[in-house]
Amino acid sequence: MNFSLTEEQKMIRDMARKFADDELRKTAAKRDQTQEFPKEEVKKLAELGFMGMMVPEEYNGAGLDTVSYVLAMEEISRADASVGVIMSVNNSLVTWGINEYGTEEQKEKYLKPLAAGEMLGCFALSEPEAGSDATNQNTVAVRDGEHYVLNGTKNWITNGATADVALVMATTDRSKGAKGISAFIVEKDTPGYSIGKKEDKLGIRSSDTVSIAFEDCKVSAANLLGEEGFGFKFAMKTLDGGRIGIAAQALGIAQASLDASLKYSKERKAFGVLISEHQAIQFKLADMATNIQAARLLTLDAAYVKDQGKSYSKQAAMAKLYASKIAVEAALEAIQVHGGYGYIKEYNVERFLRDSKITEIYEGTSEIQRIVIARHLLKD
Ligand code: CAA
Repeated sequence: MNFSLTEEQKMIRDMARKFADDELRKTAAKRDQTQEFPKEEVKKLAELGFMGMMVPEEYNGAGLDTVSYVLAMEEISRADASVGVIMSVNNSLVTWGINEYGTEEQKEKYLKPLAAGEMLGCFALSEPEAGSDATNQNTVAVRDGEHYVLNGTKNWITNGATADVALVMATTDRSKGAKGISAFIVEKDTPGYSIGKKEDKLGIRSSDTVSIAFEDCKVSAANLLGEEGFGFKFAMKTLDGGRIGIAAQALGIAQASLDASLKYSKERKAFGVLISEHQAIQFKLADMATNIQAARLLTLDAAYVKDQGKSYSKQAAMAKLYASKIAVEAALEAIQVHGGYGYIKEYNVERFLRDSKITEIYEGTSEIQRIVIARHLLKD
């Protein structure tokens, strides 16, 4: 790869690869079936510093850049995309947001344990009627003295069943539209905070996805994240970084599909020769590898631009749009390379297809990414 990595970035990538090989790959299929949350694995990820990778060391983070994060995310997701998304939410959506916009008190109380992996976080923006249309927030937060009282329901919350704290977007002034939305740090033990049933999903099945309901949930005003009215911008800025993480997750799934296809094509014979000798298979492998390389460069570029302190919204959307698309395609092609064996669970590629699909949906659908990209093209 011509994108030049520093020795430290290579070291992080190798560390993640070793952890993925030693601790995740062999057990991923079982977790996919049982839907068991990878508690021990997440604990070990935290010991490696992977739950708060971009958080400064003074707040228990690893103090690394986004490029390192992307490299690690790809390797983790290459072995188990469910672990990938758990890591991604805690890193890009939760710890990044608090580090960037939190008060000193919030950083002490929440960022430190979140970055150390002693707490897990989730990001609560989506609602039953606010998915792509994220400004349509029906959850309300009403000021009451030194508190805000939250009422409403959040949907599709990754990590929601396990998370100790949620970053919750809620409307504080409906008349102001997007500028009337605020962000709060809410602890799961707060009275009025209740977790719904775990969704039975197509893929990324060992990460948990739930709804969270707030019923007269009283949150200290000290837990307002940023200014009142900053919640929507906060969510959008945070999701810009989140999309880079999901692009890296998609990349990991795509690479796993290629890895499996290469291995199988060098073992399976048809018409008297290994199937890797058939041009029909070679073309699939060549296309997969080319698409993966293009997606990797887009993702690293988005991470690099973010690390330079420049605007990266467009780059992040492009990386997610493309990497998620080629992840689904690579998984489909991997099944085709495996033939009938690809359709059964033993060879894992059917899991890669199921895991890949969500990358075109969460943290902004592919259609939303196109809107973001087009708006930048027309404005810049
Ligand atoms: N950075 C900073 N500000 C931004 C921004 C960004 N990336 N994007 C929008 N804004 C600002 C706008 O500038 C605007 O502010 P001003 O009025 O001051 O200019 C304000 O936010 C409202 O923006 P828009 O007018 O563009 O709002 P919109 O209604 O047209 O929506 C959208 C824009 C891009 C479609 C947005 O709603 C969106 O991204 N939707 C998708 C939501 C999403 O990604 N959800 C993911 C849920 S979380 C998740 O999936 C996590 C998980 O489980 C793993």
